[in-house]
Amino acid sequence: VADEHPAPVQHSPLEDSAFLKAARGEEVPHTPVWFQRQAGRSLPEYLRVREGVAMLDACMDPELVVEITLQPVRRYGVDAAIFFSDIVLPLKAVGVDLDIVPGVGPVVAEPVRTLEDVARIPDLTPEHVTFITEAVRGLVGELGATPLIGFAGAPFTVASYLVEGGPSKDHARTKAMMFSAPDVWDALMRKITQIASAYLEVQVAAGASAVQLFDSWAGALTPGDYTEHVLPHSTRVLERAGALGVPRIHFGVGTSNLLDLMAEAGADVVGVDWRTPLERAIPMVGECSVQGNLDPTLVFAPTDVMTARAGAIIEAGRAARGHVFNLGHGVIPSTDPDQLARLTEFVQSYPLDAG
Ligand code: CP3
Repeated sequence: VADEHPAPVQHSPLEDSAFLKAARGEEVPHTPVWFQRQAGRSLPEYLRVREGVAMLDACMDPELVVEITLQPVRRYGVDAAIFFSDIVLPLKAVGVDLDIVPGVGPVVAEPVRTLEDVARIPDLTPEHVTFITEAVRGLVGELGATPLIGFAGAPFTVASYLVEGGPSKDHARTKAMMFSAPDVWDALMRKITQIASAYLEVQVAAGASAVQLFDSWAGALTPGDYTEHVLPHSTRVLERAGALGVPRIHFGVGTSNLLDLMAEAGADVVGVDWRTPLERAIPMVGECSVQGNLDPTLVFAPTDVMTARAGAIIEAGRAARGHVFNLGHGVIPSTDPDQLARLTEFVQSYPLDAG
């Protein structure tokens, strides 16, 4: 009977793109590649359009977001675009007083420390971010068969900016709240879970083909603390994103001890930073694909040294269900774009047939 059959797979150049196939664990014509922070200060065309425009103002201008997101796609022909925004943008959109200070990062005017502070942060509704809907719709039209990755900051990483008031090396105040004020911590994690989930829903509803959850600073936690205080919340965000029917990438830095848990939280693809060889990461992520993980400083080495390392990563990635090539963290602003162009070409032309 008809309803014993699964829904037919939709075939379109977009759904059949190498990136989405690798994310779903299907066979690919070439290893797909994109770069975290591929849009940004390493590109002269980015510096030109950003001149005199503050970071958050740029993020709230759909025309600029479309242009900046497309820049690395045009230049490199990468296999995916990532929406140009920032993990703190949805907080700004609901009214949290914060700014992104050049060379520093996000700075929050009134750090969150109490239940009352948490209660003052509104839930996010689509009306807060109509400019995001507009930008994503515009992009999807321009990108054609190139998938657009939407993203959000994960509860722990976003909490760190809110609680510390800015970037932090040790996340001491954040972890102190986690250890000593479980009620405040729980309320804060639930608030960020709502904001991240609603923000991802807006991006997918407008046409994003995949989402990445950035838990950049989760590597500061022991597996036990991650499991108890963070995992349930990230799981909820990924569960809601999964219900939207798009692949979910879950990424953090310094997470060699957490990769199994990050997979368990509900990822289709686990992002791996450059410190953990894929040979070690792959057995930890079970049925997930992997994304990564060239050391971002290898672009400063001679091209043959860089490509030799990239080739070894592609070979290691073949043991995974699927592999999306990327850097192990963001593009460093002083990166020569011509090196990333050579790297893209190398990865996309690397032969995958013949064992
Ligand atoms: O191309 C892309 O990857 C998409 C754009 C993107 C930005 N931020 C643009 C940006 C993405 C995905 C982010 C996410 C983000 N923001 C994360 C998670 C990813 C990671 O790096 O682990 C984090 C931790 C942030 C917080 C943040 N915002 C930092 C640490 C900084 C850098 C501060 C500085 O000036 O060095 C920002 C600002 C920011 N976000 C810039 C860009 C291009 C630089 C600002 C500028 O160009 O003026």
